[in-house]
Amino acid sequence: MIGIFGGAFDPPHKEHVRIASEIKKEFSLDEVVFLPSGNSPHKTLQTPFSLRLKMLQAALGGAFPIDQTENEFPGRAYSYKVLPLLREKYGEIAFIIGGDSLLAFDKWRCPEEIVKICPILVIPRGEDDLKELSAAAEGYMRRWGGKILISQTVRGEDVSSTAIRAKCALGMPLDDVTEEVLKIISANGLYRSYERYVQKVKSMLREKRWRHTCGVVLAGLKINERVGLPFEKVFLGCLLHDCMKQVDRVNPGVPEDVVGTKVLHAFNGAEEAKLGFGITDPEILDAIRYHTTGRAGMTALDKLVYTADMVEELTRDFEGVEELRAAAYRDLDDGFVRCFKVCYDSLIQRGIPIYYLTLDCFEQYCKKE
Ligand SMILES: [Fe+2]
Ligand SMILES: [Fe+2]
Repeated sequence: MIGIFGGAFDPPHKEHVRIASEIKKEFSLDEVVFLPSGNSPHKTLQTPFSLRLKMLQAALGGAFPIDQTENEFPGRAYSYKVLPLLREKYGEIAFIIGGDSLLAFDKWRCPEEIVKICPILVIPRGEDDLKELSAAAEGYMRRWGGKILISQTVRGEDVSSTAIRAKCALGMPLDDVTEEVLKIISANGLYRSYERYVQKVKSMLREKRWRHTCGVVLAGLKINERVGLPFEKVFLGCLLHDCMKQVDRVNPGVPEDVVGTKVLHAFNGAEEAKLGFGITDPEILDAIRYHTTGRAGMTALDKLVYTADMVEELTRDFEGVEELRAAAYRDLDDGFVRCFKVCYDSLIQRGIPIYYLTLDCFEQYCKKE
């Protein structure tokens, strides 16, 4: 049986290769074939197929074969359309997916078709809840039949291509890709679309605050794995959230009642994002504006920036942060409410006057209990 390991591989990382070797052993597969996805018409920021292929070749160094079916595929290469072609080509196949994909499997195109084509092998990631995965797999099998097997020995480390792209954009070291892949990334200037914003924010912040900002971007993207907002909104909202934290100037458009208070930098930051960075997306601007006070009717992006700000892994180490972090990565709504409560209680305890938007937020999200 041949294992089909699909993915964007944008970029491929060391974990991809390790997982392929281990899954091959566990399920006694004859081979694992890497299947880079075709260029998606919806993903404007995606690296062209030719470059992703080049990186994958470099990462694998000939250890595993690469199948280019999706590149030549006419129209969108949905799995339910591509897998039958691969079955014809290779004979018996199994489809390898990650734990996060399994949880969203019912949102794939024609999942009931996919389970009829071949068995599905699931690789849990480090923090995935095995019980949750088993329950999901059993649910799908009851509904659609087929065979969904969860790996008992392979555990994906906490590495994601999205985080690597963000680290590259932030100028952080990339430990999770091989030297050869790194060379291709540098030579082609990949993942640098936001360089202008990054350089400018960095110049506005002192070192520790910049580190915090990098942490918020990474935590925000990790929370987003289960939320699914566009990369750009999450990246820019998190990147710019504290841009005015250490700048004295007050922008026009900032409400008068926040000047001189702790929450000024959030409102000032939103105006700066608009005036100084040219951000026009109202959702990004709102997420920056309300990242300290919260408000009634928080959008998913508002909650995400608020929560990532509190639980990021690079500088936040207050007591209880691990629990909040785990909740945030599991479920944004729950993580947000927990974080908000901690902040609110601390304001009350310290006798700090509470801004009216924070009271509105409390009213909506915490009052019921
Ligand atoms: Fe802030
Ligand atoms: Fe912050």
